[in-house]
Order: sequence, then C-alpha cells, then structure tokens
Amino acid sequence: MKHKRLLIIGIISLATTTMNAQNKDHLDPKKPIEERISLLLKQMTLEEKVGQMNQYNGFWEVTGPSPKGGDAEVKYEHLRKGWVGSMLSVRGVKNVKAVQKIAVEESRLGIPLIIGFDVIHGYKTLSPIPLAEAASWDLEAIKKSAQVAADEASAAGINWTFGPMMDVARDARWGRVMEGSGEDPYLGSKIAVARVKGFQGETTADLAKVNTLASCAKHFAAYGFAEAGRDYNTVDISTSTLYNVVLPPFKAAKEAGVRTYMNSFNILNGIPATGNSFLQRTILKGDWKFDGFIVTDWASIREMKSHGFAKDAADASAKAVLAGADMDMESHYYVAELVKLVQSGQVKEALIDDAVRRILRVKFELGLFDNPYKYCDEVREQQVIGSKANNEAVLDMAKKSIVLLKNEKSLLPLKKSGQKIVLIGALASDKTSPLGSWRIASDDETAISVLEGMQAYKGNTLTYEKGAALTVGKTTFIDELVFNTTDKSGFEAAQNAAKNADVVVMVLGEHGFQSGEARSRTNLDLPGVQQELLEAVYKVNPNIVLVLNNGRPLALPWASEHVPAIVEAWQLGTQTGAAVAQVLYGDYNPSGKLPMSFPRNVGQCPIYYNNYNTGRPINAEKNVFWSHYSDVEKTPLYPFGFGLSYTTFDYKNLKVTPTASVKGGVVQVTVEVSNIGAYDGKEVVQLYIHDEVASLARPVLELKGFELVALKKGETKTISFQLTDKELGFYDNEGRYLVEAGTFKVRVGGSSDKGLEGRFELGF
Ligand code: BGC
Repeated sequence: MKHKRLLIIGIISLATTTMNAQNKDHLDPKKPIEERISLLLKQMTLEEKVGQMNQYNGFWEVTGPSPKGGDAEVKYEHLRKGWVGSMLSVRGVKNVKAVQKIAVEESRLGIPLIIGFDVIHGYKTLSPIPLAEAASWDLEAIKKSAQVAADEASAAGINWTFGPMMDVARDARWGRVMEGSGEDPYLGSKIAVARVKGFQGETTADLAKVNTLASCAKHFAAYGFAEAGRDYNTVDISTSTLYNVVLPPFKAAKEAGVRTYMNSFNILNGIPATGNSFLQRTILKGDWKFDGFIVTDWASIREMKSHGFAKDAADASAKAVLAGADMDMESHYYVAELVKLVQSGQVKEALIDDAVRRILRVKFELGLFDNPYKYCDEVREQQVIGSKANNEAVLDMAKKSIVLLKNEKSLLPLKKSGQKIVLIGALASDKTSPLGSWRIASDDETAISVLEGMQAYKGNTLTYEKGAALTVGKTTFIDELVFNTTDKSGFEAAQNAAKNADVVVMVLGEHGFQSGEARSRTNLDLPGVQQELLEAVYKVNPNIVLVLNNGRPLALPWASEHVPAIVEAWQLGTQTGAAVAQVLYGDYNPSGKLPMSFPRNVGQCPIYYNNYNTGRPINAEKNVFWSHYSDVEKTPLYPFGFGLSYTTFDYKNLKVTPTASVKGGVVQVTVEVSNIGAYDGKEVVQLYIHDEVASLARPVLELKGFELVALKKGETKTISFQLTDKELGFYDNEGRYLVEAGTFKVRVGGSSDKGLEGRFELGF
C-alpha cells in the first residue's frame, strides 16, 4: 500500500514539472461558466479530477469516528498536489485563508477549495434549534434566521453550509429531530425553501455575493425513518412513503435552487443511500435534473463495508461513484481508489468528468475562481460576527419559536410588579445548554439564561434555586452525558423558596447535547431527578409555570395534568433568556404551533397526525377489537399544529367553492378568524384535507395550506386558500403523481385536532 502511494506521488511530481505552464482562460469572468469549466477540465490530470471529489475535515475531528491515517501532514501534502477539492470544519478567516492559499498558490492548477461547515442554526450568534424555528410557522423569520447564519459564516471564511436538514421525522426517540422541521412534508417543504433561499439568496446569481452560502439539502434520503428512532439504524419504507412523505422537501429545495445534496448513512430498503443509484441518479440527477453536486455523509462510502454492501475500499468507491455520489467526505476512499478504477476500466472517466463538472460549477457560481479569498476579509469578520443586528434577529426568531401548551389559573402572562417569583431548575441558570447541539462555532456560556432574562424585569422579587443538578461531569458534543439521578440535596431549599411564592417558574427538560446526532433516547421523560423535583415543588406550591427546554417532543403526562401553565421553549440559542422572559411577561404573545406531535408516552412512537385510518378506527362494537391501546388513549398529548395564545381566536363561516364537479380547477376555501380575547396576537390558520376514497389509502389529514395572521383584539380577517392539482394529488407505489376524482374533506382551524369542516367533490 505504501509502495503504491509512493508511485502515485512520483507520477504527480512528473506531471507538475511538465504541465505547469497551464492556460488561464478559465479565469476570464466574461466567459460563460460551462465554457470555463470545459477549459479547466481539459487541463486536469485524472488525479486532479479525482482530487476535486475529495473532501477532508479540518485538522481536528469533531463528528464521526476519526479517519484512519487522516493526519494533518498527509492532508497538507494532498492539498499541494491538488488532490483535495473541499475542506470542512476549517473556520475563521485566518485558517481558511491558510488552506485556501495552499490550494490556490501551491497546487499546479490553483483550483480553490469550497469550504463547508455545519451552519445548522447559526454560526456564532445562534438561532433556536431548527425544530424550534419550525414551530414559528413563520417563513419570513426562518429565512431571515438563515440569512443571519449565512452572513456570519461567510464572514468567517465559509462558503458552503451542510444545511438545511430536511428529514421528515415521526419518531421523537430519534435525537436528530431537533435539526429538522418535524413530521409534516408540506410544512417541511415550505421551511426547506425558506432556509435554502435564506442561505443562498433568491437565485443562483446571489451565490456570488459575499454574504451568501451554497446550501446542502440533507440527508438524501429517508434518514429520519431510522427504525425505533435509533440513529444510523435501518430504514425500510414503501415507495409511497418515500415519494409522498420523505421526498417533497428535497424536491421543493431543488425547485428553490439548492446547489448541493448530502446523502445519508442509512440503508433504504437494503441499499445504502450512498450507493443508491435509484435515489441519486434516477430521482435526483435524472427525474429532477439536478445539476449541482452530491456530497456523501461523513465516511459513508467507507460505511458501505459495514453495511455488508461493499467488500473493500475499491468496491465501495466504485459503487458510490456509479450510484452518483460526487464528493467523498472523509472516507479517503475516492482519492485512494478512483484513479485505479478508471485505469482498470471499472469506472468510465466520463463519470468522473461529470462529477467534477458539477463541483466546479458550484465553485464558479460562488465566484471562487474570480477571487478565492473573497470570504477572507478580516474586517468583515470583526464587524459581522456577533453584531447587534444579528442578535436582534435571533431574539425575534426565538420569541416566535415558543409554544404555549397550557395556561390555566391565569398564571400567564406574569404580572410585572408586586409579585414574589421563584425560579427553579439547573437549566434556568445554564448559559450553555440553550445553545443547542449544532453549535460548533459558538462559545460556551454565551447564551442569555432564563435567570438573566427574568432579572431584566425589575418590578418583582425574584429568587433563584437550582433544586438539583441536571448532569454530572463534562457535557460535550462527542461524549455520552451522565445525569444526576441521586443528588436531591437542593430539593429542600427549592421547596422552602417556593412555599411563599406567588408564582414558581420551573425550567426543566433536556440538556442541549441530549438531542442531535447519535442522541437517541428510549424515554421521553424529564431526565435525572427533575420529575421528582417538579412533584416536590408542586406539593408546596402548585402555582407552577413549567418552561420546557428540549430538542424533541417529550412525553409529560403528569405535568400536563397537574401543572397549570406549560411553555415549550426548546433550545432557543444565544438570546434564550430574553425571549423566554418577554413571553412570560407578556411583552410577546406566543404564537408558535407544534411541528411534531407530543406523545402521551414513548410507546406511542412513531406518532404523527397524518396517519392512516385503519379498518377499525373507532370502537363501533363496544369491545376491544378496534385499533387502540388498552392502557392509554391513542391520540397524542399535544397534537401537531397545536399551540395557545394569551388571546383567543374564533373561526366562523367556512366556505368551500365550488363544492362539486371541479375539473383541473381551483377550489377556493375561505374562513373568518376573529381575535375575541384581551390581547393582540397572531394565529397560524391551518388548512387540512382528507381524500376520502382513492386508489391508495390516503392519510386522515394532510396539511395543504397555512397562514400566519396578525389580529388586533376585536379584529376579524377573512383568510383564503386555494387548492389545485398540486395539493390534491399524491404519488402511487410506482412514484407516479395522480389526481383522482372523488370527495374531499376540508378542515380549517388553529390545530390539526379541531376546526371547521367542509367538503367538495373533484369530478372528471
Ligand atoms: C452528519 C452530517 C454532517 C457531517 C459533517 C455527519 O456526522 O450526519 O449531518 O453534516 O457529519 O459534520
């Protein structure tokens, strides 16, 4: 092996001495991009082409197992030879400039690197985790949040984000639900588009701006259907689920111009996504005509050996490249094997040329050939990262992401003066956990804690008691967390403080590193001794406002039954405490709605609103033989689309026109929504349909429209939706899109579990 490597190095140095008088015509910005690519391709050796398909991690390993032999020295050497097309996780102008300089000034052709990074919910100034943002149903705010992320990351030298993650997910046990938009393909598609445009701009031309990033739709595909919610696990789903549930956000992202895709770790119906030609070549590059490039997930070419799908590095590389994976993230396989595979005739050079053309296309679009150091401006780095404007934007996003789950006894909003408030919980004073899981570029202790947020309101007496530690030992991105399951020594102090309070605010839930990659759980309860703490405090004072911190739906039946007020505050990023305090004090009226169903207990998972009716949906015979559980109701504790406000909304006069014989036309749905409560507020008006009879059973409900409406108290607005073939059809088991005649139910309301209903008939 060592011998072979030396041989390749020998060939390359020969090439370097004989071919370094290269033509620079591809650098002419006036020429069309395709011509520039052709001019460059013509000059590239096979090794240099394969080099473009090779991506290395920066010189520290942070996600995934450490690559074998992946030391900095070898990487530097490969950079000089032009054997590296991209690097990930190199960040900061100084570092990016350093590696870019090697590629541009020391390699023969000087092809610039594309620099990727996981900018998932912000760079240094962090937005809420993506699942929380999805709860806002506010597409403009979500787009803005992606713009802020792009602004900061591009100022730090980065030009490509591995986001948005758009895996539809129905199982809260899967930790990566925090990275997505929840369980619904329609909402997920709208959010995918908002994020892609936020990162990249409105059109491909915007990629050339200095404050945009190429974005990456991931993980292609079906990673969110990991069996039993265990990360990296098997995925086995129907074609209908693939086309109707998994693919829509990816297709919408393509239509919005996303420039890259990342494949996924999982097998899909037996074939690893990385080696899956049906997904990558037939659907993505074929049917959808995608002309950007596909990067593998971390070492997923190598993992095809563990899947039992490839026997060695050469076999895995051949399978991946034939299936359409263009760039190898950290397997180190393409760089080692592809040249030989082409020389032995197992892989055609035309396939390599196609992959390289795709990669170069995105580099040209980013303007990297015109100025490889365009993202390396130290002054801009200083000005942009952590700016006041960016902090204001993430605060706005954070407020909009909060969901009010319960509000009895008029506990909320809190009065601004004359009250004795006691704040309890380790998470209440935590300045790191609220930053969430994907926060590699941020610094520990930089979130505003809930304690700090509440301290800014000076009219009340505020006392803080931790109650109990949440974790024991270090909390890091790569280590298993250890929870405090024994130490209750702080309970007594918490109870004593709570006893005489007017209101007790308890901040409980998951640690920021408890969800995310490789953070699957089989319990969805409050970890550690938090449930006991909650019940202990409740005993002395039931006037509790429970503020939840979590990266996934939790199952909290006791709290839901006993605690009078519950606020879902997820992990809200840098401005967490300020956002939570503004909502608790009524300076912001919560308007979020759940993007995922919250189960009653973990045994209900996967649970989702757009399920099928089954043959026995109700207890018609009054016996046990219907589709249900004998120990718990089959409905979720909090359904998809649910969320309260400090005010009340009323729905009236649903009109569906025409109600019959619509052919290829438009069904108009209107409804009047009134704010009949005491506060101005915002409501997410949701429209669902049910196709009552079809050639493939259709879900009991499908979201097909929504609008976020601001209503002053006393105000009424008429909201209208249009339903066309685009909303009324579905994909069959062969992946064909069908619109069938028949009757449809329409439901419009403020949650998936209730609303005004109408019907119409589609006739041909
Ligand atoms: C994750 C990807 C991520 C990549 C690079 C992988 O472990 O699955 O989502 O983009 O690492 O950090």
